[in-house]
Amino acid sequence: MILAVESSCDETAVAVVDEKARVLLDFKYSQISLHKEYGGVVPELASRSHFEVLKELEHAISGVGLSLSDLKSVAATMGPGLVGPLLVGSSFAQGLALGWAKPFVGVHHLRGHIASALLSARLDQCLTISERSERVFPAWVLLVSGGHCQLLSTDRELRCEILKTTSDDAAGECFDKCAKLMGLEYPGGPLVEKHAQSCTPAQLDQAAKWAEQLPRPKSAEGFSFAGLKTAFRLLLTELKFVPSSEMLAPLCRALEIAVSDSLLSVMKKSFEEAEVPPQNLICCGGVSANLFLRKKLESWCESRGVSLYLVPLGLSTDNAVMIALAAHLQNPSLSLKQVFARVKL
Ligand code: KG4
Ligand code: ZN
Repeated sequence: MILAVESSCDETAVAVVDEKARVLLDFKYSQISLHKEYGGVVPELASRSHFEVLKELEHAISGVGLSLSDLKSVAATMGPGLVGPLLVGSSFAQGLALGWAKPFVGVHHLRGHIASALLSARLDQCLTISERSERVFPAWVLLVSGGHCQLLSTDRELRCEILKTTSDDAAGECFDKCAKLMGLEYPGGPLVEKHAQSCTPAQLDQAAKWAEQLPRPKSAEGFSFAGLKTAFRLLLTELKFVPSSEMLAPLCRALEIAVSDSLLSVMKKSFEEAEVPPQNLICCGGVSANLFLRKKLESWCESRGVSLYLVPLGLSTDNAVMIALAAHLQNPSLSLKQVFARVKL
């Protein structure tokens, strides 16, 4: 089993995952309420909160009944993220590793998101992590989080090649910024989804019309959401937007339609251009929790005969289970420098 710590932003998470992909511990502490009044994450406050939570956790971890002889290594996110929070979490994990005389594995946060696909329901019949990874990889990965939006080609050791990336914002950022324009709190993505789900049939028609007014990427070069965000702002002005449920629900659905279409259009073109299109597709990162996007991906993959590996809903956003899973897959003999030098994700 591997114990992992994730502290790259405003969530302190610790998890233990064994070789059979059983999650023995999945602790998460969100700092959202701490940063609310500042309108964004305050790095110093985040670092202090991680420190306070992890200090207390040392006892909780001892209480899990971990058998040190079964513990293969201790892992932690080394980046990308806020330097202070990363230092607190990774130092804590390295301290545990030293104290327990276990190897320390540094994990790239985005590789964690990719590895979370190992817990896809599609793999429930597999008995071990190794069996699961053999089924999933090699795969293409649609990685859609708050800071990243990329199409990657990935192998079993999580070596990645970037196929497409965004020329401006990430999909999650687009949801968050458009949500803010409508007066919704951060993170906006889940709230956009909640309002969109309350659409009446008439509002769904309205949403489809508004979605047509929003732009999609013009070329297959890469993802782009800046134009969509500006068009959404102009639409709000044109409609003299007031935050009522009559307006919020269809606007949120229109946004979901436009973002999902944009993601799918770049991905479809990449499949068409590929000499050997992949058999497997992973969709991961916070935005992959969006049910509208999931449905769109499911029906497209089914029509193409592509196996789609979706991350369990609770593991789409940041967590430490994904870091433990990535540490299970990574070549343990790599130095931290090598982990980060192999590819700039
Ligand atoms: O992967 P993640 O937890 O953190 C990063 O590594 O960035 O992703 C957070 C992003 C936020 O932008 C959030 O608004 C978005 O994921 N998100 C969603 C949903 N849940 C989270 N976007 C759309 N629909 C959701 N259900
Ligand atoms: Zn993330």
